[in-house]
Amino acid sequence: MLFCLIFIFRNAASDYPPLTLDYYKSTCPTVFEIVRKEMECAVLSDPRNAALVVRLHMHDCFVQGCDGSVLLDDTIDLQGEKKASENIHSLKGFRLIDRIKNMLESECPGIVSCADILTIAARDAVILVGGPYWDVPLGRKDSRTASLELANSNLPDANEGLLSILSKFIYQGLSVTDTVALLGSHTIGMARCVNFRPRIYGDFEATSDKTPISEAYLSNLKSICPTVGGDKNITAMDNVTPNLFDNSFYLTLVRGEGLLNSDQEMYSSVFGIETRKLVNKFAEDPIAFFQQFSESMVKMGNITNSDSFVTGEVRRNCRFVNT
Ligand code: HEM
Repeated sequence: MLFCLIFIFRNAASDYPPLTLDYYKSTCPTVFEIVRKEMECAVLSDPRNAALVVRLHMHDCFVQGCDGSVLLDDTIDLQGEKKASENIHSLKGFRLIDRIKNMLESECPGIVSCADILTIAARDAVILVGGPYWDVPLGRKDSRTASLELANSNLPDANEGLLSILSKFIYQGLSVTDTVALLGSHTIGMARCVNFRPRIYGDFEATSDKTPISEAYLSNLKSICPTVGGDKNITAMDNVTPNLFDNSFYLTLVRGEGLLNSDQEMYSSVFGIETRKLVNKFAEDPIAFFQQFSESMVKMGNITNSDSFVTGEVRRNCRFVNT
């Protein structure tokens, strides 16, 4: 089945022009310091901020490539992506990115793109909650467009079957290994009841063999998320070390305690022979997880579209295109 998916593979990681590690070396040498300082304050005040930024970066890259399109507000002339089904009432962290952008604009005006800020901030977020370091290639441009339509179609849904989810990653040029490794981001952060209700009340007819959730854990989840109401109630996706970036998310899947159907599918789906192997590997070997995660984050961050290099810009305010 996966072979079929290869046909819709889109080589999204364009090499034009190549991103480089020292892109701001002469134009804004303090860029890493500034982003790190702001991220440190934010994560210290609330570790959830790390999760918000990592998700923001992913939701940027899956729509038109990593071009800051997710950050654009709706205006009379432009429909942004913030109202897409996977973003609305859910995606946060915009003010934190505004803060970093303001600091950078006063230090090196008009130089650092919002898309690059998101990419560096996501890397720092991971480090600050205990995850791995990786070098971040830079030089992305900010789009002058956004696509609500692509945001609605490209972003994965918590109650989507495994094959459909994998096809969305393959479409972005990411492999099955990348998918399982990147999903390890769910070792931090929270999900809302509206997204995990189908999992805990069994309303999910996809491909899962329904690895049972333990009774104690299930009744705790049901107390947070009733059958009706409480849609915005939240709980951690990693129920053991929710604020630590480690491999314990994969252990929750092995125990059958994945919070989202899409998470548990990686281990339990009847189509998930390869994904299950990877979940077992990352559950057993945290170093292998960290190595693969770093590599896959660079790959995801390199999803670009050539349009953004031709018509793109460095926005002065991440929420609006330059006039
Ligand atoms: C299988 C594909 C994926 C699906 C279906 C999915 C779905 C979700 C959902 C439903 C939530 C909770 C949102 C809410 O309830 O408001 C969430 C949270 C999160 N996702 Fe994913 N996700 C996927 C892959 C990824 C990837 C690849 C990354 C990063 C590389 C990521 C990073 C995060 C983070 C950090 C959070 C926590 C955000 C917070 O605390 O607000 N996810 N995801």
